[in-house]
Amino acid sequence: MRWLGKCPECDSWNSFSEELVETLKRKNGSGTKQKSTIYKINEISAAEEDRVKTGIKEFDRVLGGGIMPGSVILLGGDPGIGKSTLAMQAAAKISSNVLYVTGEESPKQIKLRALRLKIKSDNFFILAETNLNNILSSIKEAEPSVVVIDSIQTMHSEQFDNSPGTVTQIRECTSLLMEEAKKGHFAVILIGHVTKEGIIAGPKVLEHIVDTVLQFEGESNHSFRILRSQKNRFGSTNEIGIFEMHENGLAEVKNPSELFLSDREKNISGSAITASVEGTRPILLEVQALVTPSNYGNPQRVTTGFDSRRLSILLAVLEKRANLRLSANNVFLNMAGGVRIMEPAVDLAVCCSIASSLLDKIIDNKLVLIGEVGLGGEIRSVGNIEKRIQEAEKLGFKRIVIPGNNLKNLKLNTGINITGVNNISEILLSILK
Ligand code: TYD
Ligand code: MG
Repeated sequence: MRWLGKCPECDSWNSFSEELVETLKRKNGSGTKQKSTIYKINEISAAEEDRVKTGIKEFDRVLGGGIMPGSVILLGGDPGIGKSTLAMQAAAKISSNVLYVTGEESPKQIKLRALRLKIKSDNFFILAETNLNNILSSIKEAEPSVVVIDSIQTMHSEQFDNSPGTVTQIRECTSLLMEEAKKGHFAVILIGHVTKEGIIAGPKVLEHIVDTVLQFEGESNHSFRILRSQKNRFGSTNEIGIFEMHENGLAEVKNPSELFLSDREKNISGSAITASVEGTRPILLEVQALVTPSNYGNPQRVTTGFDSRRLSILLAVLEKRANLRLSANNVFLNMAGGVRIMEPAVDLAVCCSIASSLLDKIIDNKLVLIGEVGLGGEIRSVGNIEKRIQEAEKLGFKRIVIPGNNLKNLKLNTGINITGVNNISEILLSILK
C-alpha cells in the first residue's frame, strides 16, 4: 500500500477515489453448462431495415441510420445540456414500445417535460426506479424495443454493496443491461453525466463496454447543441447532429452553415471563414480572433471551440515563418456559434484571422480559407476538399483558398474562384493588403 496522488496512466492529480473491491456474487446456476450454438452466417437473418428509426433525422444519422436492436448506446454530456430532453424526444417518435426509466426525476416531473415537448405517444412508458433487478423484470413485462436509462449513475444492482454511482455499480449495471439487451433484442440508451474534463460517467471503462458512445455538447450560453458519435459499432464515428434548444425542446438544424454564418459582422478585422467537415457533412463557420497588446507580463491565450495547444503551435509558426510579433500580445480565439472544431483543416483560417486582427486588416468577406498549417509554415492538403468547395459555393462565396496539393488533384466543375497556396506567408501577403 502506498499513497498515490498522481495517476500513473494519465498524469492527472487527485483523481483517485477509494472503492471497496467486491468479489462477484453472480450465481453460475447449478454448474451444468449450456451448450453453445454455432450458426452459419448465411442462415442468420438480419437486415439494415431492422434498425429502429426515431424520426429525428439528426439523431438517426449520427447512429448510422437508426437504433440497432440489441445495442447499448451511451449518451453522455454535461448536466443540463439536454440529454433527457433529447432522449425523450427521440423515444417519443418511436412507433414501438419504449420504456423510460428515471432515477433522477419523478413521473410527474417527466410528465411536465413531456407536456412541454408536446409528446403524445401512446406507447411511451415511464418507470421511476433505481434498482436494476426491478428494472429488468419490468422490461420483461413491458417488452419495449427501446429502454432509456436516465441516468446510469443513479442505478444500482443488489448484487453489489457499493452505492450508486461508483465504478463497480456503473460497470456491473451496464454489463447486466448489455447481456439482457442482446438476449431480449431491445436497445438501451444509457444517459451518463460527464465531468467537465470530458470523461463519461467517471469510469472510462464504460466506453469500452457499450456499442455506441454519443456525446451531447454545447456552450451553456448558446442554444446550439451538437451530438457527436465517438464510437459506433454500427456506423461511422465523427458524425455529428446539430440541434437548437428552444422552449419546446430541441429542433434539428438542417442547414448548419447558414445558421453559423447568420450573426456574422462583415468587414471587421480578425474574422475568417472556413469550411470544416464534421463526419460526412461540410459546415461553414466563422473563426474570430482578437489580438491585443499585453501590458502586464504574461500574455493570455484563450480559446473557445479550439484546442489551446494547437493555437500555441500556430502562434509559434506565425511568429517564426511569417514574422508576426505575437509573443507580447494577448490572443483570443473563438469558433463562432459554440461549435468545437478538432480537425486541422481550419488552421489556415485560424492563422489568417489572427494576422488580420494583429495588423487590423480585413479579410474579404466572400473568401473561404481551407488548409492545415505545418510547422514549416507549409500548407498541407486536407480531405473532402470537393465537399468543402461545394458548400462554399452553395452559400454564395466567391473565392476559396485551398492547399496547393489539393488543387493539383482537383477534378471539379465549379463557378467559384479557386486558388492554391503552399505556404503561410504567401497567403498572408495576398489576402491582407
Ligand atoms: P435536460 O434535458 O434536463 O438536461 P440533462 O438531462 O442533460 O441534464 O435539459 C435541461 C435544460 O434544457 C434546462 O436548463 C432547460 C432546457 N430546456 C429548454 O430550454 N427547453 C425545453 O423544452 C426543455 C425540456 C429544456
Ligand atoms: Mg437529465
